[in-house]
Amino acid sequence: MNNEELFRIFHDTGIVPVVAINDANKAEKLAKAMIDGGIPCAEVTFRTAAAEEAIRRMTQAYPEMLVGAGTVINAALAEKAVMAGAKFIVSPGFNPETVEWCLHHNIPVVPGVATPSEIEKGLAYGLKVLKFFPAEALGGVNMLKNLAGPFGQVKFMTTGGINVNNLPDYAKAANVLAIGGSWMVKGDLIENEEWDKITALCKEAMVKLQGLELVHVGINLKNADAASGAASEFAKLGMVINEGNSSIFMDKSIELMKAPGLGANGHLAFRCYDIERTIYFLKLRGFTVKEDTIKYDAKGKIKVCYMNEEIGGFAIHLVK
Ligand code: 3PG
Repeated sequence: MNNEELFRIFHDTGIVPVVAINDANKAEKLAKAMIDGGIPCAEVTFRTAAAEEAIRRMTQAYPEMLVGAGTVINAALAEKAVMAGAKFIVSPGFNPETVEWCLHHNIPVVPGVATPSEIEKGLAYGLKVLKFFPAEALGGVNMLKNLAGPFGQVKFMTTGGINVNNLPDYAKAANVLAIGGSWMVKGDLIENEEWDKITALCKEAMVKLQGLELVHVGINLKNADAASGAASEFAKLGMVINEGNSSIFMDKSIELMKAPGLGANGHLAFRCYDIERTIYFLKLRGFTVKEDTIKYDAKGKIKVCYMNEEIGGFAIHLVK
């Protein structure tokens, strides 16, 4: 797998659980719990003696799962991890020896950085994805926002102190590629084999990551007259009329279509943090994107699209 493919998966999945496992016999079940929760990737840290064997077992049982190694603090450990099947290497700090070993062997590597100087070191090695660790202690999203100025080309995998509550802040940050953390795979959950709980925490994290929120309801009317008629009625409720070319908005929450648009009855517009990521999330739930409805912003990112599948006669519209 090349860097581009790997980073695409990181971005789309958006969450990389940071695992510290003490008993390699539990590795397969843990992997399954994460996959069932919609997160088919993990960073297994060399903080425990079982890491190497756990990586081997996870990758053998679930070859489609993206398993990498974390807390790789030297080149010898990187080699061990790769021999066990790790597809990427993560380290808490920036060790040139580890980075050089990985680059030499064509293994994707994401070293940790905490300062602009370390980011520059990463850039000198041609690395565009770096781990921002320990994220919360370093200033969290505020620090990331400040780093986006001078280092616009760098994307971060952020870990350290992130949980389901502050996750949305990171999900909104444009220079965060993926969010890592141990909150859904805590040691005691693994120890007590609470696989359902781990699956539930993974699912909860994936939902939180999207930030899906209903922003307006589009109602299909026969024609412009019918839309105006409906607008006068909604105005009686105190809603403000905003006349547009193809529709009339009532406040910002109801869109009256001047001709039938997508959906038998209309559409439901949902805002999300990152449309590309949410398309991936919805695909896993059986939705497909209606390609001819995709519109891009100046940066080439999707700003709106519709899904092919309707819910209750309403088309699903994603907006940023
Ligand atoms: C890491 O190695 O990335 C961190 O230890 C994960 O941080 P967390 O345990 O605070 O999620």
